[in-house]
Amino acid sequence: MTNLVRPNIAQSSGYSPGEQPTDTTTIKLNTNENPYSPSPLALEAIRAITFEQLRRYPNPRADLFRQAAASLHGVDPDCIMTFNGGDELLAAMVRACASEKDSILFLEPSYSLYPVLAEIQGADKIVQQYKINDTNWSLPDNLETIEASLLLICNPNAPSGHFEPIARLEQIAKNFLGVVVIDEAYVDFADESALALVHKYKNVILLRTMSKGYSLAGLRFGYAIGQASILKEIEKVRDSYPCDTIAIAAATAALKDQAYARSTWQKIKSERARLSCALRSLGFVLPDSHANFVLAQIPASTKQQLSGRHIYQSLKEKNILVRWWDLPHLTNKIRITVGTQEQNDKLLQELKTLICAE
Ligand SMILES: Cc1ncc(COP(=O)(O)O)c(C=O)c1O
Repeated sequence: MTNLVRPNIAQSSGYSPGEQPTDTTTIKLNTNENPYSPSPLALEAIRAITFEQLRRYPNPRADLFRQAAASLHGVDPDCIMTFNGGDELLAAMVRACASEKDSILFLEPSYSLYPVLAEIQGADKIVQQYKINDTNWSLPDNLETIEASLLLICNPNAPSGHFEPIARLEQIAKNFLGVVVIDEAYVDFADESALALVHKYKNVILLRTMSKGYSLAGLRFGYAIGQASILKEIEKVRDSYPCDTIAIAAATAALKDQAYARSTWQKIKSERARLSCALRSLGFVLPDSHANFVLAQIPASTKQQLSGRHIYQSLKEKNILVRWWDLPHLTNKIRITVGTQEQNDKLLQELKTLICAE
């Protein structure tokens, strides 16, 4: 069967999404959804959709959303482009910027979709490692001198949650010869964004998603912020109607309801601080997180060393899902999405039991 597809597709193992259980009792702390409901205005917008709107094709460029996002970010609507989720934006960037003769540069450990997209495209992968010094993570010094068509940087980074200073990103944007995608999927939980770089550098594209900060992961809606000249080129590789009528209406209403979204970010940030502190007092080691998750290294001081896999599986048996990867730098860590206070308390209780039992 494999010779029916391009060899690079047959060789790629594809992306493995996090587990998505269908029951509602699992405490789901594995794929970084916002634990609070979306804005009530988003649900109202969905209810207001008419049969006539469904009968027709959607607005191809999601103009209502673009106007709302442009006014929020202080840019022209032509500097906003919508996608059926941030993942589709990444796929479009890869498709538009890197041919089979080109290279795509990205960091590890980071978002595990980046290498998969490069494999599917058949482009060369250039992988650079984050400098990890205890709980300090940072980009390698020479990153901007590497020759590649596309550089994918996640900030705040997943799965570490660390934040790369904007001044460092600016140095990279200024000197890197290709396109720089700054994946800001988690920026709503950070104090700063790289938005100012879009005004200054035509090779910078920001990725934003409605999945995390706006509690709309099920809707599939993401958008790019970049200069109109490059977005015009990216548009050529998008689907003709990437966002459906329901998604455009709900995403627009949610984005406009900043007061509601910000109230959920505030709760998550304060739970993140409490969870981080409680994990540290149990002996876990973690970088300061600027996202809605933490990357917790298993305490080394337990009598019999607990592994990341063991903790992940033991929590799963208790109906709590976290994320664990059998990958370099990550095997002795678990990534935990910040949940509600009640969810975090249950997680902490189980972790305490596990650690004290050793
Ligand atoms: C770092 C990062 N970028 C982009 C995305 C894409 O998000 P979505 O496709 O849900 O908009 C995710 C989702 O988990 C992510 O973790």
